[in-house]
Amino acid sequence: MKNKNKIIVANWKMNGSEDLMKEFSQLTCSKHNDIIICPPFTLLDSAKTLLPNFVKIGAQNCGAEDKGAFTGEISASMLREKSVSYVLIGHSERRTLFNETNNIIFKKVEAAIKSELTPIVCIGETLSEKEANKTLQVLDNQINGSVAKIEPHEQVIVAYEPVWAIGTGLTPDENEIKEAHLYIKTKLNQHFNADIPILYGGSANSKNCSQIISIENVGGLLVGGASLKKNDFRAICNC
Ligand code: 13P
Repeated sequence: MKNKNKIIVANWKMNGSEDLMKEFSQLTCSKHNDIIICPPFTLLDSAKTLLPNFVKIGAQNCGAEDKGAFTGEISASMLREKSVSYVLIGHSERRTLFNETNNIIFKKVEAAIKSELTPIVCIGETLSEKEANKTLQVLDNQINGSVAKIEPHEQVIVAYEPVWAIGTGLTPDENEIKEAHLYIKTKLNQHFNADIPILYGGSANSKNCSQIISIENVGGLLVGGASLKKNDFRAICNC
């Protein structure tokens, strides 16, 4: 994505229903932002049929392999057949609850790119890592283990999501976001040929979105809880 539009991504996680998708068919956005909704796999078909045309569709995960005996997995090429264009990879919930390592995350990123999906790779520190002043070290390690192994001409989006800010109502202060995003940007610039968008995620909502999105090097938002309420999400899309 070469433009300078802000990118607003909804991560519905394991939430949502056909009824909610119907509500979102009325979503409007008057700003030149790129809007991506990532519903659970089972709602991808309805997303394609019901969501307004300006909304792009993403998935929340994909398998590391293309096909075969991997019960319960869904591959990137299968998602591509469902009109999916983006896929979240390495969300902290996948890293902690499903033991996804940098290695697995990189394999998924490779699989996504091979199937022409744009990976949205999530990185971020836990509270104890933040308290031990290890934020930049953690980001460095997560970038080296996944994003920095991608070919420099490929398209990718990175989402900085401090784990302690997810679902807690807590957000880093402006300087913390600025510092993390500058660090990530500098590191990505050394590797990639083009500007890589860097999103912020973690308790973003309709009240704080304008302030966060105007921070230097914040290319958009990755929104969890607030993306499940149509009016709140519309306000975020318009911020
Ligand atoms: P919340 O917006 O609910 O904090 O979730 C953030 C997130 O995990 C998005 O991927």
